Amino acid sequence: MPVTAEHVAAWAAEHEGKSPQTLIRFALTTFPNMTLSFSGAEDVVLIDMAVKSKLPFRVFTLDTGRLHPETYRFLDTVRQHYGIPLEVCFPEPAAVKAMVDAKGLFSFYQDDHKECCGIRKVEPLRKVLATTTAWMTGQRKDQSPGTRNSVPQIQLDTSFTGTDGALVKFNPLANWSSQEVWDYIRALEVPYNPLHEKGFISIGCEPCTRPVLPGQHEREGRWWWEEATKKECGLHMGNVEAEAVSFEIRQG
Ligand code: ADX
Ligand code: SF4
Repeated sequence: MPVTAEHVAAWAAEHEGKSPQTLIRFALTTFPNMTLSFSGAEDVVLIDMAVKSKLPFRVFTLDTGRLHPETYRFLDTVRQHYGIPLEVCFPEPAAVKAMVDAKGLFSFYQDDHKECCGIRKVEPLRKVLATTTAWMTGQRKDQSPGTRNSVPQIQLDTSFTGTDGALVKFNPLANWSSQEVWDYIRALEVPYNPLHEKGFISIGCEPCTRPVLPGQHEREGRWWWEEATKKECGLHMGNVEAEAVSFEIRQG
């Protein structure tokens, strides 16, 4: 039976205030085909917690073709460190070629990032999500003041479709701060992307990510030529709609 909004609301109430580890254990037990999305950044914490749960899970990464060399190396470090398979999802070559032939390799600086992210990230994500009933992300509320303030720990993903229609999305780190994530990484000696030692906090594609200065928010290093409220690439498009609703409520 497909999961409904009522199931999700009940699970969310039950897990209010519980640790990410507890939520991960629940998610992996309830959805044995759970798929973790791993960007090659500090969301490695999810993999560490999932491995320690000793429950089965899949991990995928969207290889846009534009990641930093450090990130490619780190993906393999993680694969070897944990001894887990890592599914690498690629964009449709014909769609990438058509865009690049028509507009060059850096069209996102002129057009905005939607078309390129759509081809290189969103369509490959759509395909992988069609093979599962639930997925897990490393999203946190504190990652993006413009778009992630309302990220819940558990939600129905209405932007994509799973194998039986409904798709559940778990964001176990939603309520953790960057500090808590990094305390975990240091305390448990979790491997991390060496770009973090070069001033990068949030890490995406190489042409669309830059280090931030002291005091700058991590999201300012992503798509810096665009407005803060547009800084979602389509993987988490529901955030923009949810944020618009909560802004209207705040405005009364
Ligand atoms: S993004 O949408 O702006 O690129 P962000 O970098 O903040 O996302 O990462 C939030 C979460 O989205 C990650 O923890 C991960 O679960 C998922 N994610 C982002 N990029 C990728 C990627 N290239 N491959 C797989 N998952 C990703
Ligand atoms: Fe393209 Fe930049 Fe989006 Fe990567 S982040 S898919 S390079 S627009």
